[in-house]
Amino acid sequence: MHISQRARDIQESAIRKLDAAVGRASGVTFFRMNIGQPDVPTPKAILTALATDEGPVLAYGPASGLPECRDAAAAFHSRTSPGLSREHVVVTQGGSEALLFAMVALCDPGDEILVPEPYYTNYNGFATFAGANVIPVPTSLDQGFAIPDDAVLDTLVTPRTRMFLFANPGNPTGAVYGADQLRRVAAWAKRKGLWLVADEVYRAIWFNAPPLSALNIAGHEDHVIVVDSTSKTFSACGLRVGFLISRNLELMERIERLGQARLGPQPRGQRAAIAALQLPEAYYEEVRHIYKARVDAMMDALAQLPGVSFHRPEGAFYTMARLPVQDTERFARWLVEEFRDTSTGRPESVVVAPGPGFYADPRKGRDEIRLAAVREESQLRRAVELLGLGLKAFRG
Ligand SMILES: Cc1ncc(COP(=O)(O)O)c(C=O)c1O
Repeated sequence: MHISQRARDIQESAIRKLDAAVGRASGVTFFRMNIGQPDVPTPKAILTALATDEGPVLAYGPASGLPECRDAAAAFHSRTSPGLSREHVVVTQGGSEALLFAMVALCDPGDEILVPEPYYTNYNGFATFAGANVIPVPTSLDQGFAIPDDAVLDTLVTPRTRMFLFANPGNPTGAVYGADQLRRVAAWAKRKGLWLVADEVYRAIWFNAPPLSALNIAGHEDHVIVVDSTSKTFSACGLRVGFLISRNLELMERIERLGQARLGPQPRGQRAAIAALQLPEAYYEEVRHIYKARVDAMMDALAQLPGVSFHRPEGAFYTMARLPVQDTERFARWLVEEFRDTSTGRPESVVVAPGPGFYADPRKGRDEIRLAAVREESQLRRAVELLGLGLKAFRG
């Protein structure tokens, strides 16, 4: 039977690639640094709201989300980007659906999306859904993953370019773009007639200075979209509630239509999201404190490994590290399938995400891996120790 080219083109998630091999290895304790699924407990207020009685019928909700959930998200974002209200917010099934809606709303088949690479690998999948192509904007670990100058960006624009999409803070880089850099890129995109789509699902997790939201850049109200999510900030990946936010009301009308086509997002999840959005500032401070301690532990451990260089994350909970090996796909698979350290009395190994999965061209990033600081410090230290032992054994 026929299966569409789009379905054939969807990439296997680079992050999940090694999972099958992990599942086959019985009796081994794996320290998993390859996926962004934190183990931080979901706040009680969210769990309580989820358990609330919804009445005798689980009814559909409105296409753009419950009004009170849109209000709560608008109020939350207005703390940093004043003047937002319900009409600027659509509730989506996670940040993922907000990204998909943005691409479908802005791109016709064959259109192009500029994305600084390395980038969150699922952007490829959403673009394939939308029939669009991701065009990578090269950045490098040595330059702190900074966005290249306007002159370089100019060379990547074609008549099919529709949007500049970036994550801030970045996954997989942990890089936070400074306000000057963001304003410069926003001005460049505006000059070129491009949408600026800021994926801010990690915006609450920063270590030095809070990232500027793209919603808060004056003079850019008409061409900015922000994607947000409850997944990482509230350690609620399974809630599947996200937001698409823009001050461009013509666009928001179109997004409402996309929402109608799939009916509304789950009301119960939205009630839980309201509880999340009403948490006090102290909650966010605690989250930052937890991830800062983890990221510091991971960085300190990595610094002990000879020949390994890395970018110290300014936000989110990932780092890209460069290893003294030529093929991290092979190395990562070898760690899962063959490498075992038994010094604790039981076989242990580590799972990392190979770098090429975060690049449009899989020949790039071959000496890089992404590590996620999603476990508590002692486990991260042990995971990096195992990585070091693995490196020694693999090379020697
Ligand atoms: C940069 C980035 N954007 C979006 C998402 C999607 O998040 P969700 O659909 O869980 O909100 C993720 C998930 O890891 C991510 O890392």
